Amino acid sequence: MTNLIYVQPNGVRLEVEAPDGMTVMQAAVDTAVEGIIGACAGSCACGTCHVYIDERYTSLLPPISTEEDNKLDEVAAPVKRNSRMACRVVVTPRLDGMVVHIPTTQG
Ligand code: FES
Repeated sequence: MTNLIYVQPNGVRLEVEAPDGMTVMQAAVDTAVEGIIGACAGSCACGTCHVYIDERYTSLLPPISTEEDNKLDEVAAPVKRNSRMACRVVVTPRLDGMVVHIPTTQG
């Protein structure tokens, strides 16, 4: 299990113990984290799992695939250099303590 910290746009934090191998999207949906919808169940098709990853951790993540990059072009909230689709980020022990900022809107 790996500790993730989801932060709402208003600053409210929720700590989640996420199983390793699960995606950051699924861990949020399973624990009812608001603002991460995951409408396509993780197939990188809906654009409703956009998050901003704690920049201390971005170098630990796999590179953004073309599929993910294309989906980031379609999200509703501003895209930043630490934007990721949460369904493309798999939980590993190296990510323990990672802060995941939720955007103000999904789409
Ligand atoms: S869950 Fe649909 S794009 Fe990530």
